[in-house]
Amino acid sequence: MVSKTVVIIGASCAGIPIAHALLKDSPSVKVVLINPASTFYFMIAAPRILAKPKAFRPEQYLLPIEREFTRYPKSAFEFVLGVATAISVDAKTVTVDNERVISFDYLVIASGSTTRTMEDDSDILIPFKHPKSGSVQTLIEEAQQKISQATKIIIAGAGPIGVETAGEIAEAAEQRGADIHITLISATDRVLPMLKPRASEVAEDRLKEKKVEIIKSRKVTGATRSADLSTWTVSLDNGQSLHTDLYIPTVGVIPNNSFIPQEFLDSEGWVKVDEELRVQAGNGSKLPIFAAGDITDNSMRLSFKAAEQAAVVAANLRAEITGKGKRRVYDQGNSIMMLVPIGSSAGTGQLFGWTPWNSLVKMIKGKDFFISKAHSMIAAN
Ligand SMILES: Cc1cc2nc3c(=O)[nH]c(=O)nc-3n(C[C@H](O)[C@H](O)[C@H](O)COP(=O)(O)OP(=O)(O)OC[C@H]3O[C@@H](n4cnc5c(N)ncnc54)[C@H](O)[C@@H]3O)c2cc1C
Ligand SMILES: *[C@@H]1O[C@H](CO)[C@@H](O)[C@H](O)[C@H]1NC(C)=O
Ligand SMILES: *[C@@H]1O[C@H](CO)[C@@H](O)[C@H](O)[C@H]1NC(C)=O
Repeated sequence: MVSKTVVIIGASCAGIPIAHALLKDSPSVKVVLINPASTFYFMIAAPRILAKPKAFRPEQYLLPIEREFTRYPKSAFEFVLGVATAISVDAKTVTVDNERVISFDYLVIASGSTTRTMEDDSDILIPFKHPKSGSVQTLIEEAQQKISQATKIIIAGAGPIGVETAGEIAEAAEQRGADIHITLISATDRVLPMLKPRASEVAEDRLKEKKVEIIKSRKVTGATRSADLSTWTVSLDNGQSLHTDLYIPTVGVIPNNSFIPQEFLDSEGWVKVDEELRVQAGNGSKLPIFAAGDITDNSMRLSFKAAEQAAVVAANLRAEITGKGKRRVYDQGNSIMMLVPIGSSAGTGQLFGWTPWNSLVKMIKGKDFFISKAHSMIAAN
C-alpha cells in the first residue's frame, strides 16, 4: 500500500492522540510530529505546581513524548524537535526552524494557545504553558521562587486559571505561616463568569476565607515594573494604581499562529475549520489540512474538547486515506464541564448543569489536580 505522510504541528492534548490513532490502525500512514519541546507539560496542574513546589515531582508533570511512540514501527513515526515556521499549501510542505523542509500529504495544525505570561516579549514569564525555547523546568523553578517570596501578589483575570492560582498561592502561604496579600481582579461583576451564579458565589466565599481580596468590575489598563524590577504598578480603569511584588495576568488566550497562512485565520487569529475540522481555504477548495484543539475557531478551549476534536480529525483522516471508517463531525455543544479547585479541600465548577459540592471537587480534582491522569493524556489507549 502506498504510504501517506501526515505531518502534525504541536504535540499536546490534540496532536498526540491524533498521532496515536493514525499509527494504531492505519498501516499505510507515516506520522511526523513537530514540537518545540521533548516533553508534554501537564499544564492543568500548573496553578499547584507553581504555588507549591513540593506538591509534585517534575517527572509527574513533564512527560517525555517520544517514549509513547516506541511501540510503533520505526519507519512509521518521526518526532521532530523544533518550531514550525512556515506552511506552503501549494508545495505541501512545512518548514521547521526556518531550515528543514518537510513534505506532507496531509497536515494537522494543533499548535494550541499561549497565555500572555508566555509570549516571547513577556517580562512576566509565569509558565502556564511550555515556552517556545529553553527549559520549562528552569522557568517553573524561577516562578516558584518568585511566588513564594512575594508578599503582595496581584492576579488579573478571574477565570479558572486566575481563581485556581489565587487559591493555591493563598493556601501555600497559609501552610508555611506567611502573611501575604493576594488581590484578584475581575473584569466582570462576578468571578468565574462562564459558570452559573451559584458557582461564582461559592468561589468568592472560598477565596475570601483564604483572605484573597477580590476587586470586581475592574479592568487592568496597564502594568509597569519598577526600574530595579522588584515591584509592579498595576493601573485599573477607574484610575486607581496598585503596587505589588508580583503581577500575574491570566487574562487572554493567544493563538499560536505565527506560521499559519493569513487566509486560514479569523479576525482574532484562530484557524477557521468546518464541522469535519478541515481548514477552510479562502477560495472554498478542499484542502488536505485539518486543525484540532485550542487553535481552531471553536470557542471552548479546554483539554477534553481538544481530545474530542482529535478523535474527529483522526477519523476523518483515516476515512480519507484508507477509505475505511465513518467520517465524523464536531460540535462543541453548549454544556460546560469544569471543576475549579480553590486550595486542596474546596472549590466549585459545573457538571451536567449543576454546581458540585466542595467535597466532590476535592475528591475529583482538588486532591491532586488530575496529576494522576497526566500520562493517560499522551498514552496510546
Ligand atoms: C493553567 C491552565 C490550566 C488549565 N486547566 C484546564 C482544565 O482543568 N481542564 C480543561 O479541560 N482544560 C484546561 N486548560 C486548557 C487546556 O490546557 C487546553 O485546552 C489544551 O492544552 C489544548 O490543547 P492543544 O493540544 O490544542 O494545545 P496546547 O496544549 O496549547 O499545545 C500546543 C502544542 O503545540 C506546540 N506548538 C505551538 N506552536 C508550534 C509551532 N509553531 N511548531 C511546533 N509546535 C508548536 C506547543 O509548544 C504545544 O506543545 C488549562 C490551561 C491552562 C493554561
Ligand atoms: C485555493 O486556495 C488554496 C490555498 O491557498 C490554493 O492552494 C489553491 O491553489 C487555490 N485553488 C484555486 C482553484 O485557486
Ligand atoms: C505561541 O504564540 C505566542 C504568541 O505569538 C508566542 O509568543 C509563543 O512563543 C508561541 N509558542 C510557540 C511554542 O511557538
